[in-house]
Amino acid sequence: MSEPDRLYFRQLLSGRDFAANDVIAQQMRNFAYLIGDRETGDCVVVDPAYAANDLLDILENDGLHLSGVLVSHHHPDHVGGSMMGFELKGLAELLERVSVPVHVNTHEADWVSRVTGIPLSDLTSHEHGDKVAVGAVDIELLHTPGHTPGSQCFLLDGRLVAGDTLFLEGCGRTDFPGGDVDEMFRSLQALAALPGDPTVFPGHWYSQEPSASLSDVRKTNYVYRASNLDQWRMVMGG
Ligand SMILES: [Fe+2]
Repeated sequence: MSEPDRLYFRQLLSGRDFAANDVIAQQMRNFAYLIGDRETGDCVVVDPAYAANDLLDILENDGLHLSGVLVSHHHPDHVGGSMMGFELKGLAELLERVSVPVHVNTHEADWVSRVTGIPLSDLTSHEHGDKVAVGAVDIELLHTPGHTPGSQCFLLDGRLVAGDTLFLEGCGRTDFPGGDVDEMFRSLQALAALPGDPTVFPGHWYSQEPSASLSDVRKTNYVYRASNLDQWRMVMGG
Protein backbone atom coordinates (compact mmCIF):
# COMPACT_ATOMS: atom_id res chain seq x y z
CA MET A 1 0.00 0.00 0.00
CA SER A 2 1.21 3.51 -0.73
CA GLU A 3 0.26 5.68 2.26
CA PRO A 4 2.33 4.40 5.20
CA ASP A 5 0.04 5.97 7.78
CA ARG A 6 -2.83 3.74 6.75
CA LEU A 7 -1.15 0.57 7.94
CA TYR A 8 -1.98 -0.46 11.48
CA PHE A 9 0.48 -3.02 12.78
CA ARG A 10 0.94 -4.11 16.38
CA GLN A 11 3.13 -6.80 17.88
CA LEU A 12 1.67 -7.95 21.22
CA LEU A 13 3.41 -10.16 23.75
CA SER A 14 1.41 -12.77 25.66
CA GLY A 15 1.55 -12.37 29.41
CA ARG A 16 2.37 -8.68 29.06
CA ASP A 17 0.27 -6.95 26.38
CA PHE A 18 -2.59 -9.45 26.59
CA ALA A 19 -3.44 -12.27 29.01
CA ALA A 20 -1.34 -10.26 31.45
CA ASN A 21 -1.97 -12.41 34.51
CA ASP A 22 -1.76 -15.76 32.74
CA VAL A 23 1.32 -17.64 33.94
CA ILE A 24 1.42 -19.94 30.89
CA ALA A 25 1.13 -16.95 28.56
CA GLN A 26 4.02 -15.32 30.40
CA GLN A 27 6.19 -18.43 30.11
CA MET A 28 5.41 -19.16 26.47
CA ARG A 29 6.23 -15.63 25.25
CA ASN A 30 3.94 -15.83 22.22
CA PHE A 31 3.48 -12.88 19.93
CA ALA A 32 0.07 -12.10 18.50
CA TYR A 33 -0.20 -9.51 15.76
CA LEU A 34 -2.84 -7.02 14.71
CA ILE A 35 -2.77 -5.92 11.08
CA GLY A 36 -5.26 -3.38 9.84
CA ASP A 37 -6.17 -0.48 7.62
CA ARG A 38 -6.73 2.65 9.72
CA GLU A 39 -8.89 4.22 7.01
CA THR A 40 -11.42 1.41 6.54
CA GLY A 41 -11.05 0.14 10.11
CA ASP A 42 -10.62 -3.46 9.02
CA CYS A 43 -8.22 -5.51 11.10
CA VAL A 44 -7.07 -9.12 11.33
CA VAL A 45 -5.47 -10.84 14.27
CA VAL A 46 -2.66 -13.35 13.84
CA ASP A 47 -2.70 -16.28 16.29
CA PRO A 48 -5.22 -15.30 18.98
CA ALA A 49 -4.58 -17.49 22.03
CA TYR A 50 -4.88 -17.25 25.82
CA ALA A 51 -7.20 -14.22 25.86
CA ALA A 52 -8.80 -13.44 22.53
CA ASN A 53 -11.07 -10.92 24.24
CA ASP A 54 -8.05 -8.86 25.32
CA LEU A 55 -6.87 -8.75 21.71
CA LEU A 56 -10.31 -7.70 20.50
CA ASP A 57 -10.46 -5.00 23.17
CA ILE A 58 -7.08 -3.63 22.07
CA LEU A 59 -8.00 -3.29 18.40
CA GLU A 60 -11.46 -1.93 19.18
CA ASN A 61 -9.96 0.65 21.56
CA ASP A 62 -7.77 1.69 18.64
CA GLY A 63 -10.91 2.29 16.58
CA LEU A 64 -10.76 -0.81 14.39
CA HIS A 65 -13.02 -3.83 13.98
CA LEU A 66 -12.08 -7.45 13.46
CA SER A 67 -12.55 -8.68 9.91
CA GLY A 68 -10.68 -11.98 10.10
CA VAL A 69 -8.18 -14.26 11.76
CA LEU A 70 -4.89 -15.50 10.33
CA VAL A 71 -3.60 -18.78 11.75
CA SER A 72 0.12 -19.55 11.46
CA HIS A 73 -0.37 -23.14 12.67
CA HIS A 74 -2.49 -25.30 14.91
CA HIS A 75 -0.53 -25.41 18.18
CA PRO A 76 -2.65 -24.43 21.21
CA ASP A 77 -0.35 -21.55 22.20
CA HIS A 78 -1.37 -19.99 18.86
CA VAL A 79 -5.05 -20.91 18.54
CA GLY A 80 -6.11 -22.29 21.93
CA GLY A 81 -6.84 -25.86 22.92
CA SER A 82 -5.43 -28.48 25.21
CA MET A 83 -1.69 -28.24 25.94
CA MET A 84 0.33 -29.94 28.68
CA GLY A 85 -2.83 -30.59 30.69
CA PHE A 86 -4.05 -26.99 30.43
CA GLU A 87 -7.02 -25.73 28.45
CA LEU A 88 -5.91 -22.60 26.64
CA LYS A 89 -8.51 -20.22 25.29
CA GLY A 90 -8.23 -18.85 21.80
CA LEU A 91 -10.04 -19.05 18.50
CA ALA A 92 -13.22 -20.65 19.83
CA GLU A 93 -13.62 -17.92 22.45
CA LEU A 94 -13.01 -15.25 19.81
CA LEU A 95 -15.62 -16.66 17.41
CA GLU A 96 -18.21 -16.59 20.19
CA ARG A 97 -17.84 -12.81 20.31
CA VAL A 98 -17.48 -12.05 16.61
CA SER A 99 -18.07 -14.15 13.50
CA VAL A 100 -15.25 -13.68 10.99
CA PRO A 101 -13.37 -15.83 8.47
CA VAL A 102 -10.49 -17.87 9.88
CA HIS A 103 -7.70 -18.19 7.30
CA VAL A 104 -5.66 -21.39 7.49
CA ASN A 105 -3.39 -23.22 5.11
CA THR A 106 -5.19 -26.10 3.44
CA HIS A 107 -2.70 -28.59 4.95
CA GLU A 108 -3.40 -27.30 8.47
CA ALA A 109 -7.21 -27.15 8.39
CA ASP A 110 -7.86 -30.60 9.88
CA TRP A 111 -5.33 -29.99 12.65
CA VAL A 112 -6.79 -26.59 13.54
CA SER A 113 -10.30 -28.03 13.61
CA ARG A 114 -9.23 -30.90 15.86
CA VAL A 115 -7.33 -28.72 18.34
CA THR A 116 -9.90 -25.91 18.61
CA GLY A 117 -13.14 -27.83 18.06
CA ILE A 118 -14.12 -25.40 15.31
CA PRO A 119 -15.85 -27.24 12.45
CA LEU A 120 -13.87 -27.54 9.25
CA SER A 121 -16.68 -25.74 7.43
CA ASP A 122 -15.98 -22.62 9.52
CA LEU A 123 -12.35 -22.46 8.35
CA THR A 124 -11.21 -20.78 5.13
CA SER A 125 -8.46 -22.88 3.54
CA HIS A 126 -5.72 -21.33 1.44
CA GLU A 127 -2.96 -22.33 -0.93
CA HIS A 128 0.55 -20.90 -1.01
CA GLY A 129 0.52 -17.44 -2.56
CA ASP A 130 -3.09 -16.61 -1.75
CA LYS A 131 -3.76 -13.07 -0.59
CA VAL A 132 -6.05 -11.80 2.14
CA ALA A 133 -7.12 -8.16 1.76
CA VAL A 134 -7.53 -6.16 4.94
CA GLY A 135 -8.92 -2.89 3.61
CA ALA A 136 -6.13 -1.71 1.31
CA VAL A 137 -3.53 -3.94 2.98
CA ASP A 138 -2.72 -7.06 0.98
CA ILE A 139 -1.33 -9.93 3.02
CA GLU A 140 0.34 -12.76 1.12
CA LEU A 141 0.12 -16.23 2.65
CA LEU A 142 3.28 -18.31 2.33
CA HIS A 143 3.07 -22.05 2.95
CA THR A 144 6.12 -22.96 5.05
CA PRO A 145 5.82 -26.58 6.22
CA GLY A 146 8.31 -28.08 8.65
CA HIS A 147 7.16 -27.08 12.12
CA THR A 148 3.73 -28.41 11.11
CA PRO A 149 2.39 -29.58 7.72
CA GLY A 150 0.42 -26.42 7.03
CA SER A 151 2.45 -23.76 8.81
CA GLN A 152 2.19 -20.45 7.03
CA CYS A 153 3.91 -17.06 7.19
CA PHE A 154 2.40 -13.70 6.30
CA LEU A 155 4.07 -11.13 4.09
CA LEU A 156 2.88 -7.55 3.98
CA ASP A 157 4.36 -4.15 3.40
CA GLY A 158 7.98 -5.00 4.22
CA ARG A 159 7.11 -7.30 7.10
CA LEU A 160 7.29 -11.05 7.44
CA VAL A 161 5.13 -12.46 10.24
CA ALA A 162 6.86 -15.79 10.55
CA GLY A 163 4.90 -17.86 13.11
CA ASP A 164 6.99 -20.73 14.46
CA THR A 165 8.81 -21.27 11.18
CA LEU A 166 11.56 -18.70 11.72
CA PHE A 167 12.61 -17.08 14.99
CA LEU A 168 15.36 -14.47 15.18
CA GLU A 169 17.45 -17.17 16.82
CA GLY A 170 16.60 -20.69 15.72
CA CYS A 171 13.41 -22.04 14.21
CA GLY A 172 10.36 -23.98 15.32
CA ARG A 173 10.79 -27.56 16.50
CA THR A 174 10.36 -30.32 13.97
CA ASP A 175 9.84 -33.18 16.43
CA PHE A 176 6.16 -32.58 17.16
CA PRO A 177 3.48 -34.54 15.24
CA GLY A 178 3.48 -33.42 11.62
CA GLY A 179 6.92 -31.84 11.87
CA ASP A 180 9.46 -32.51 9.11
CA VAL A 181 13.17 -31.62 9.19
CA ASP A 182 13.62 -31.60 5.41
CA GLU A 183 10.53 -29.49 4.80
CA MET A 184 11.79 -27.02 7.38
CA PHE A 185 15.05 -26.63 5.49
CA ARG A 186 13.22 -25.88 2.26
CA SER A 187 10.86 -23.44 3.97
CA LEU A 188 13.69 -21.56 5.68
CA GLN A 189 15.59 -21.32 2.40
CA ALA A 190 12.49 -20.01 0.65
CA LEU A 191 12.06 -17.32 3.31
CA ALA A 192 15.74 -16.35 3.04
CA ALA A 193 15.23 -15.76 -0.68
CA LEU A 194 12.38 -13.30 -0.23
CA PRO A 195 13.10 -10.00 -1.95
CA GLY A 196 13.17 -6.59 -0.29
CA ASP A 197 14.69 -7.50 3.09
CA PRO A 198 11.45 -7.56 5.11
CA THR A 199 11.48 -7.21 8.89
CA VAL A 200 10.98 -10.59 10.56
CA PHE A 201 8.31 -10.72 13.26
CA PRO A 202 8.45 -14.14 14.95
CA GLY A 203 5.77 -16.18 16.72
CA HIS A 204 7.68 -16.18 20.02
CA TRP A 205 10.06 -13.81 21.76
CA TYR A 206 13.06 -16.11 22.09
CA SER A 207 15.78 -13.52 21.40
CA GLN A 208 17.14 -10.18 22.54
CA GLU A 209 15.18 -8.13 20.04
CA PRO A 210 11.50 -8.67 19.20
CA SER A 211 12.10 -8.20 15.46
CA ALA A 212 14.99 -7.87 13.02
CA SER A 213 15.64 -7.48 9.33
CA LEU A 214 15.74 -10.70 7.33
CA SER A 215 19.29 -9.88 6.20
CA ASP A 216 20.38 -9.69 9.86
CA VAL A 217 18.61 -12.94 10.67
CA ARG A 218 20.33 -14.62 7.73
CA LYS A 219 23.69 -13.48 9.09
CA THR A 220 23.18 -14.35 12.76
CA ASN A 221 20.69 -17.23 12.98
CA TYR A 222 22.36 -20.66 13.10
CA VAL A 223 19.62 -22.14 10.95
CA TYR A 224 21.24 -20.34 8.01
CA ARG A 225 24.68 -21.84 8.59
CA ALA A 226 23.64 -25.05 6.86
CA SER A 227 23.82 -24.64 3.11
CA ASN A 228 22.52 -28.03 2.07
CA LEU A 229 20.18 -30.71 3.32
CA ASP A 230 22.91 -33.02 4.66
CA GLN A 231 24.41 -30.25 6.79
CA TRP A 232 20.95 -29.28 7.92
CA ARG A 233 20.11 -32.80 9.07
CA MET A 234 23.29 -32.77 11.14
CA VAL A 235 22.42 -29.38 12.66
CA MET A 236 18.99 -30.71 13.56
CA GLY A 237 20.42 -33.91 15.02
CA GLY A 238 19.04 -36.20 12.30
FE1 LIG B 1 4.21 -24.20 17.37
